[in-house]
Amino acid sequence: MSEEVRIREGEGLSRALQDYLSDWSDRSGIAVEIWALPSAQVPGAVAKAVYATVVEALANVERHSRARHVAVAVTVGASGLRMTVSDDGAGFAQERQGRIAGRGLAAMRAHFAEVGGTLTINSVPGGGTTITGAVRL
Ligand SMILES: Nc1ncnc2c1ncn2[C@@H]1O[C@H](COP(=O)(O)OP(=O)(O)O)[C@@H](O)[C@H]1O
Ligand SMILES: [Mg+2]
Repeated sequence: MSEEVRIREGEGLSRALQDYLSDWSDRSGIAVEIWALPSAQVPGAVAKAVYATVVEALANVERHSRARHVAVAVTVGASGLRMTVSDDGAGFAQERQGRIAGRGLAAMRAHFAEVGGTLTINSVPGGGTTITGAVRL
């Protein structure tokens, strides 16, 4: 069963992310630290946006970063949901983060934009990359 289907059937974003992150870490050999996952149910559209963004962010970590560790946090508070995916890899230059960014970065922005949220990319050459998404619930 695809993860998207499982999220729709209400099994929950946190469970789906746990399963994905565990498989991804085993396959890639990159350690994943889960700092936080929401305990409450997240609306389906937001859950799908967060899940798809994490998948895309981790694809970039595996493909480009040469990171040894990646940290994932998804928290729900008064201001809404916040997601961060942070790696300790090679990073990339600021000019790559603007309009000329590739399809993966654009797709992550689009996932959050679709649910009325925003996505920020922070990367420092030699200092890793952090993707942060925020959306009101
Ligand atoms: N976590 C990361 N670590 C290092 N470089 C990255 C990371 N994520 C993205 N990049 C850089 O940004 C570029 C654009 O990423 P993306 O839009 O996903 O396109 P693609 O993965 O197809 O190259 C990548 O080619 C890479 O140079
Ligand atoms: Mg990519």
